[in-house]
Amino acid sequence: MIATTETKSRETKLPRLLTQLPGPKAKRVVEQDAKFMSPSFTRDYPLVAKRGHGAVVEDVDGNTFLDFAAGIAVCSTGHCHPKVVEAIQKQAAELIHMSGTDFYYESLPQLAEKLVNTVPGADPKKAFFTNSGTEAIEGAMKLARYATKRDKFIAFYGCFHGRTMGALSLTASKSTQRKGFGALLAGVEHIPYPNAYRCAHGHTTETCGAEILETLERQIFKRLFDPEEVAAIVIEPIQGEGGYVSAPKFFLQELQRICRQHGILFILDEVQSGMGRTGKWWASEHAGIEPDIITSAKGIASGMPLGAFVARASIMNTWKPGSHGTTFGGNPVCVAAALATMDLIETEYKENARRMGDYLLTKMADWTKKFKIVGDVRGRGLMIGVEIVRDQRTKEEAADLRNAIVDAAFHKGLLVLGAGANTVRLSPPLLIDEEQADFALRILEECIVEAQKKA
Ligand SMILES: Cc1ncc(COP(=O)(O)O)c(C=O)c1O
Repeated sequence: MIATTETKSRETKLPRLLTQLPGPKAKRVVEQDAKFMSPSFTRDYPLVAKRGHGAVVEDVDGNTFLDFAAGIAVCSTGHCHPKVVEAIQKQAAELIHMSGTDFYYESLPQLAEKLVNTVPGADPKKAFFTNSGTEAIEGAMKLARYATKRDKFIAFYGCFHGRTMGALSLTASKSTQRKGFGALLAGVEHIPYPNAYRCAHGHTTETCGAEILETLERQIFKRLFDPEEVAAIVIEPIQGEGGYVSAPKFFLQELQRICRQHGILFILDEVQSGMGRTGKWWASEHAGIEPDIITSAKGIASGMPLGAFVARASIMNTWKPGSHGTTFGGNPVCVAAALATMDLIETEYKENARRMGDYLLTKMADWTKKFKIVGDVRGRGLMIGVEIVRDQRTKEEAADLRNAIVDAAFHKGLLVLGAGANTVRLSPPLLIDEEQADFALRILEECIVEAQKKA
């Protein structure tokens, strides 16, 4: 009987709420968590997940939710895709760990080949696997220093690159993420990120950021860092944590030109925006740029902990055995999950992300007219941000209203996350269909109308 109910709820594509939220079992988990877990996490609402299938998550009380958060843009192929599960199970029964630092196993160079072949640019490339996004950034920074023999970095306000000390030195998203941790890496300078919606110079998406590039060349390079001391410029082509803001195409192209001119490495952080999420393997492909180093994690292994950085072979070949390593990075089980994930992204989900992203954005095109608290709807593929403002004219950020929308959506069975100060982020698994997209839009519209009444 229970099995029948469970099977049924797992198969459904849309949510079904059975209890008040949180339900009795969820409440107990939340209480235990408060007692024993680090309080540094930021839980927006009390979802206590039990199982997931496709784009649907079931909680411990049997409630099901439509997941437009995907574990922070991680479950690219949905929850527990049968092909990913099969790959994990098969590998776990054969070899769980070996450590690529010391020995070889077949799947490691196999995944490396598959991954480097997705990265734009004719030059040969090589990969290094990590356990997380922050470690991919950490490794990319170390490689940049090693290869260039320079030690300075330039990063952008609003960007998030992780929380380990090196990556945190680049992260400039929210001050709470840095507060209390003392001095970070020296030699990191931040400059503004081009945000067309809030462009200080009134530019459109085509031209926003021209003044930032001028500041880089005329101020930073003249008064702070000689460009010959700069190892790398690190940027997210689409800011994730910072609010789903896309850098204009010309801006990324100019940044690449500046890097090339001064022998500075151009590092693209695609931990969130990569792996098919925007309809191409990498968001930066939309801008026609070629990174020197690119980082990945999140969606690469459908939820198994894996990150990577890929560099031109001429850069990666500079460091010597022993200069960088890892015990777990590129673990066989994670690699098996990644191989299955990348197959699915290649054959189905990259295209579905493009198609469903267009579908959603077309339907949301009139939201700034329809809702006075929606300041901007933006994104590419299944990386969509809805910026919530107090007043469309002043663009005052309305964090409280955004939070109210995120919370109300949960209580109606839709999981979404915030990003930046006041943006609702839509980052569903790449397999959603039109019925699920329509459901999510209907719920979000209801929540926005409710929040509007409080404005
Ligand atoms: C663009 C970007 N870089 C790096 C990271 C850090 O990844 P992780 O949390 O796996 O360390 C994140 C995580 O949100 C991210 O979005």
